[in-house]
Amino acid sequence: MTLRIGLLPQVAAAHFVTREAITGKGHFSAGRPQANDLKRLGNPDSVVICGSHGFALGMREHLQAELPASRLLIESFSAPVAPVAATPGSEANDTLRLHLKHTGQVLEPPAGKSLLEMLETSGIEVRSVCRAGICGHCRLKVSEGEYTLEPDFCLTDKDKDEGWALACCTFPTSGTLKVDLNASA
Ligand code: FES
Repeated sequence: MTLRIGLLPQVAAAHFVTREAITGKGHFSAGRPQANDLKRLGNPDSVVICGSHGFALGMREHLQAELPASRLLIESFSAPVAPVAATPGSEANDTLRLHLKHTGQVLEPPAGKSLLEMLETSGIEVRSVCRAGICGHCRLKVSEGEYTLEPDFCLTDKDKDEGWALACCTFPTSGTLKVDLNASA
């Protein structure tokens, strides 16, 4: 299952083909790597996780039991997905408003999007790079109203308890959310 690369003996690669069936043995395995597969990595200096937001979250969960977060490098190929309750047409979205603390504006954005998308479609500039909860550039404070925080790779539980959120991982659902884009740490 593990392939040693001849010219780089310090590098080992394990190949998991997640969609196609694997008929023969060899260096390839079928399906997502599971916790036991990841244990075979030994004690690597770092692990790079690349894949969809959901895949990266799952792999991080497995690996965090074995390695400190500082050794995990994450690249997410997709943004968090809106939870079902936040999809367009939801009853709760009818009263959704965003109150921007720094300008006093009250926005009524289209529902079913992330807070980042809602602000951008309303013409509000928000710093963002990854749009997947990794870089932390879209960090802001949110209070009141109803919203869902999708899992991210950046904020601590303490941050969230203090009201910090990532606009790309926050899905407003109803009520008037107070949004502070200029909050300081
Ligand atoms: S844009 Fe990177 S965490 Fe939101």
